[in-house]
Amino acid sequence: MDARELKIKYLDFFKKKGHAVIKSAPLIPEHDPAVLFTTAGMHPLIPFLLGQPHPAGRRLVGVQKCLRTDDIEDIDDDSHLTFFEMIGNWSLGDYFKKEAITWSYEFLVKVLGINSKKLHVTVFKGDKAAPRDKESAEAWLSLGIPKNRIYFLPKEDNWWGLESGPCGPCSEIFIDSGVPGCSAECRPGCGCGKYFEVWNNVFMEYNKIKDGGYERLRQKNVDTGMGVERMVAMLQNRKSVYDTELFIPLINAVKSLAKRQGLKSLRIIVDHARAATFILGDERGVAPSNLGQGYVLRRLIRRAIRHARLLGIEKGVCQAVAEVVIKNYAKEYPILDEKHDFIIKELVKEEERFLKTLERGLRIFEKIARNKSRISGRDAFLLYQSYGFPIEMTQEIAVEKGIKVDVKGFTEAYEKHRGLSRVSAGKKFKGGLADASEETIKLHTVTHLLAEALRRVLKKEVRQKGSNITPERLRFDFSFDRKLTEDELRRVEDLVNEKIKTGLRVWHEQMTFEKARKAGAHAEFKAKYGEKVFVYFIGDFSKEVCGGPHVKNTRELGKFRIVKEKSIAAGVRRIRAVLEL
Ligand code: SER
Repeated sequence: MDARELKIKYLDFFKKKGHAVIKSAPLIPEHDPAVLFTTAGMHPLIPFLLGQPHPAGRRLVGVQKCLRTDDIEDIDDDSHLTFFEMIGNWSLGDYFKKEAITWSYEFLVKVLGINSKKLHVTVFKGDKAAPRDKESAEAWLSLGIPKNRIYFLPKEDNWWGLESGPCGPCSEIFIDSGVPGCSAECRPGCGCGKYFEVWNNVFMEYNKIKDGGYERLRQKNVDTGMGVERMVAMLQNRKSVYDTELFIPLINAVKSLAKRQGLKSLRIIVDHARAATFILGDERGVAPSNLGQGYVLRRLIRRAIRHARLLGIEKGVCQAVAEVVIKNYAKEYPILDEKHDFIIKELVKEEERFLKTLERGLRIFEKIARNKSRISGRDAFLLYQSYGFPIEMTQEIAVEKGIKVDVKGFTEAYEKHRGLSRVSAGKKFKGGLADASEETIKLHTVTHLLAEALRRVLKKEVRQKGSNITPERLRFDFSFDRKLTEDELRRVEDLVNEKIKTGLRVWHEQMTFEKARKAGAHAEFKAKYGEKVFVYFIGDFSKEVCGGPHVKNTRELGKFRIVKEKSIAAGVRRIRAVLEL
């Protein structure tokens, strides 16, 4: 069974169980202050897991584009990928453990034909925050999974959630690959390769709050996720995800350019170039840069290029992989085709930029490393600053040469130079969580007021190009071709504050995208025809297609102040603003 068939079967199965199919949200989250990329199918559903009604109903199923950078060092193993598709079904306060587990079993055994004797499952052992999950264990037992294949595991293994927000105990499903276990203690979760993790059922009935405690959610949810690439490898009896139809054509494209062999480099190249293609070709795609998602993208492209050189490939490797990725996925993600020229152009540009300094950088590296066992923070920073070597690349080359790098020293030099906090730089690359604090909700609402105020003051249809909100401030990028005057900025500020003072009611209505457009609601993205969306209204001042959440009345917002206005690209301006008491 290939990936496409697996996805169709999954969607069909859950459609028959009353689920509505939702389309993948962008890889780059729309309103998420602390995380750069969507890391799981539940991510775009956070407001709905917290209780907001979803326009498509309480039972959802879909395939979500995901990207994780925390496993980046494991990318050359058999199962970790930077970009992957996660297919899942969700219950938003509807069915719970019994149904979710029964359907997982039915789908695996009856639809996919997996021998039930190979299934091993885990359930939560219980602790202070939540009790032992007897209900899930019962559900598995009633399906014929014997006790010795049900493992009660602690929170480290059997709890799923982001740093805060909806979370809960999970029940993971593993398939015994048939190879002997590594030891007598070998059990699901052990990385030796005996147990292949295929699906996770998370029972989200808790909300992790900032201070680390848990509270009960208003509703009991189910969040499940199956990694498409891993499942396909399993179904095709392949040891590695790279041995499936999803990667073989990409590997062949690289091999046809390579002069030397090297499995690790080959895997890194196809994984990274594929992820880069999806970042560039996202609905909210960005170009390589030194910040945020753009910097993750830059790191992926540059690491792929360096590994290509280890295989004797002079240039063009990411472009070659991207062409195959676009061709293979365009049917499912037409946006890749639409953005084809942008993807290729940016990959070529980034390669040109990097190749200009790579050779010299490598020579400097040799010079610095000569007779040393450690590269200083200052030198690592020089390699970054003057030769464009991301720190992981310096570390990786150092490891190849058996020397160390003073990463702490590098971070200090970097921080000093950029005035960025180490925590935020590090955390952002690792991924984080969606924050729905009161502050971010307020800033989210005031962003709508700001967008409308800009339109009215500038008398132009300014389009939102991006937004990023932390509990401290909002950042709003929009299309406009010149600097705003002092007077314009003051008028925008005044208009927003006037609307706050008036105390406008904020509410939402559900309608088709077409109807929303006809009603004059602003929207950053095109939804599919007929798809239901929420339109948020702020009095009669603003109408925007948006997933929320928002405050109930603008009176809650405080005083709005614009801190800065500047250009970030040709025709794109950025405003930073805050809310004060
Ligand atoms: N969110 C859970 C996971 O990523 C289930 O999809 O494993």
